[in-house]
Amino acid sequence: MGKSSKDKRDAYYRLAKEEGWRARSAYKLLQLDEEFNLFDGVTRVVDLCAAPGSWSQVLSRVLIKGEKFGRAGWEEKQKEARRYVLGLDKEEKEVAGEEAKATEEEEQDKHLKPREGVRIVAIDLQPMSPLEGVTTLRADITHPSTIPILLKALDPDSFDPKATSASHPVDLVISDGAPDVTGLHDLDIYVQSQLLWAALNLALCVLKPGGKFVAKIFRGKDVDLLFAQLKIVFERVRVAKPRSSRASSIEAFVVCEGFCPPKGFRASLDTPLGTETQLSTAQKPRLKKETAATRRVREDGAIELDLGPEEEVEDDGEEGGSRWIAPFLACGDLSAYDSDATYHLPKDRVSLDPVQPPTAPPYKRALEMRKLAGGAYGKTKGQERKDIT
Ligand SMILES: C[S@@+](CC[C@H](N)C(=O)[O-])C[C@H]1O[C@@H](n2cnc3c(N)ncnc32)[C@H](O)[C@@H]1O
Repeated sequence: MGKSSKDKRDAYYRLAKEEGWRARSAYKLLQLDEEFNLFDGVTRVVDLCAAPGSWSQVLSRVLIKGEKFGRAGWEEKQKEARRYVLGLDKEEKEVAGEEAKATEEEEQDKHLKPREGVRIVAIDLQPMSPLEGVTTLRADITHPSTIPILLKALDPDSFDPKATSASHPVDLVISDGAPDVTGLHDLDIYVQSQLLWAALNLALCVLKPGGKFVAKIFRGKDVDLLFAQLKIVFERVRVAKPRSSRASSIEAFVVCEGFCPPKGFRASLDTPLGTETQLSTAQKPRLKKETAATRRVREDGAIELDLGPEEEVEDDGEEGGSRWIAPFLACGDLSAYDSDATYHLPKDRVSLDPVQPPTAPPYKRALEMRKLAGGAYGKTKGQERKDIT
């Protein structure tokens, strides 16, 4: 598929190049922020699985440069729309004419509000081109040795090599981790869930009380175990699907707010939280219930299902007969592009190159080998000769 046809079939791919983002993923974070106001009061952030770096770019531009995107950008647009409807814009422009245009730019600069004490650390297996104000680390988030590396990057001056948690914890941990998809559904979901547990364990080591955790999930069949565990350490857990994430993909994002670790809880990568190790809900094992199944919608939108007398009570203290379903939200302005739609492009339109081609993608060596073999487009010399004859 050529650049131009991809532009047509993927509006976010095209938009990312036009607006200077390294990847279309930027819009996922921006649309999540529109819905959840993720960056409100945030100055210290960890971006896991960050390459090529569009999420870090968003962080850098919002926190360091003080630009208005996501929720802040959306609010600005609403204000402009109100002014337009009330006719204020027209009136002002008529009065001030061209002068208004010149001062508009100055005004915009005035609105840049860089935050103080910003620290952004980005980690990925792949190398990442530098970004203003972002510390980039090349490391594996599933490996315990990554924890001290991250802690040191967060607090280079006060780093204690024996510490297992951050001396100055962070406000937000985001993770867009995804494995190289094999196409084998169950395997992909499993590997992705391992990345998610790794991200959560890192987050538990560095988050401050009240902090937020946002991570990509693949909605597989064991996802409710994850929600149940997240619910123990966060006040609010929701699942969101930004408009820029294709409807056909099982990808979604957990948005967890209000980090509230249980009393005495100490994050540890020796016994990391995961499918094997789970936090206790501190609830007593329930007796077999005599009542019928019930369904309760909580104030925060979560649904609690009690499956009633048929369910066996498990002897490990887990809630055998009850399930907790995280509220699911679609996010992104309704006027935003639909990621599954194909758009018409003007005839004379020039297709742009990506803002930041991958520095060392995993497929680079395969391409080099193919080139050496004589064919850059999937055919070796031998095959080409065969095709001709
Ligand atoms: C979808 S991309 C992330 C895109 C990024 N959020 C952005 O906006 O540019 C997924 C990334 O996960 C990274 N990744 C996969 N497994 C990892 C691991 N074990 N440790 C660190 N990064 C990993 C990949 O290298 C890849 O760059």
